[in-house]
Amino acid sequence: MPRPIEALIHPDALARNLARARAAAPDAKVWAVVKANAYGHGIARAYDALRGADGFALLDLAEAEQVRALGWRGPILLLEGVFEPRDLELCSRLNLWHAVHCAEQIDWLAAHKTQQPHRVFLKMNSGMNRLGFTPAAYRAAWARLEALPQVDEISLMTHFGDADGARGIAHQVAAFEQATRDLPGERSLANSAATLRHLAAAGVAADWVRAGILLYGSAPDFPEHDSAHWGLRPAMSLRSRVIGVQQLSPGDTVGYASAFTAERAMRIGIVACGYADGYPRHCGTGTPVLVDGQRTTTVGRVSMDMLAVDLSALPAAGFGSEVTLWGTAAGGALLPIDEVARAAGTIGYELMCALAPRVPVRVDAAGG
Ligand SMILES: Cc1ncc(COP(=O)(O)O)c(C=O)c1O
Repeated sequence: MPRPIEALIHPDALARNLARARAAAPDAKVWAVVKANAYGHGIARAYDALRGADGFALLDLAEAEQVRALGWRGPILLLEGVFEPRDLELCSRLNLWHAVHCAEQIDWLAAHKTQQPHRVFLKMNSGMNRLGFTPAAYRAAWARLEALPQVDEISLMTHFGDADGARGIAHQVAAFEQATRDLPGERSLANSAATLRHLAAAGVAADWVRAGILLYGSAPDFPEHDSAHWGLRPAMSLRSRVIGVQQLSPGDTVGYASAFTAERAMRIGIVACGYADGYPRHCGTGTPVLVDGQRTTTVGRVSMDMLAVDLSALPAAGFGSEVTLWGTAAGGALLPIDEVARAAGTIGYELMCALAPRVPVRVDAAGG
């Protein structure tokens, strides 16, 4: 018998979340961002549900090959462009569109021999200072690309650093707009947070939005808003079972470093899930968890293969009870991944991407 832990991927939720992106950006085309193996969900598992997107955006050339192998004939965008000159051969062969964010990538394109000119997305560093040409250097880069026979159409893109927070996007939009005002080409600016929070505001060009985290049902701006606020459903549930039960007397401690001491008599369940499954060790006592669909909390330290949950208020729960670490319980109760991430001092993105390879993953054919 395998350990009772498993991750479920919910195609219905992916498809509904994609529809939510469309509703937020009705005039835009939608990139389904499936980098990092679809944020840990598995590109092959997510593909059918996300085929309604206008294109797939990702980083890894192997992932681009995988999307083509799954049968996708539409646009694929390499968000960081190519990493070495020979990657351009794959772009030509598989008709991959690619970001161009630095002078080296233009040099490589200029030296690339191809019959098929490439569609490129010229990236501006409009303030995040990660990838891209500064506004001052952007036009010269555009002119260089425009002059190349290897380049077909040039689209314009940038990425926001604060779309989920108080600073917002206005300063980056202004920098982008000013430097691109009279340049032709489609625009792609908005990630999930910008799509949900800012797109309705005037002035955000959006021929293409890049929907990532929202597809997977996590709120990009938690805790200001939760997934329910945005109408998003979790696309991944991590479930396990209680494999042991302990009765505690006042003064008893739980787990490594005796990190939890019972102040009263308690009943706790030991769950087959630990940090080697991708559950964050940083989640301390009090992290929310569902047992048989009912909310309770963890107690003590998360160990490699197990963690403990408080069953004191759940008399019907015990050995074999279903435990939902995040996502939806079998009965439909919801525990947003964002709440667990917060308890670990991180974000839902990291938890879903860090699901450990040893956890069996099953596609939930029943939906939800
Ligand atoms: C360039 C780019 N576009 C879009 C996204 C999608 O972002 P999100 O998952 O916040 O929607 C990312 C994610 O990091 C990105 O790097």
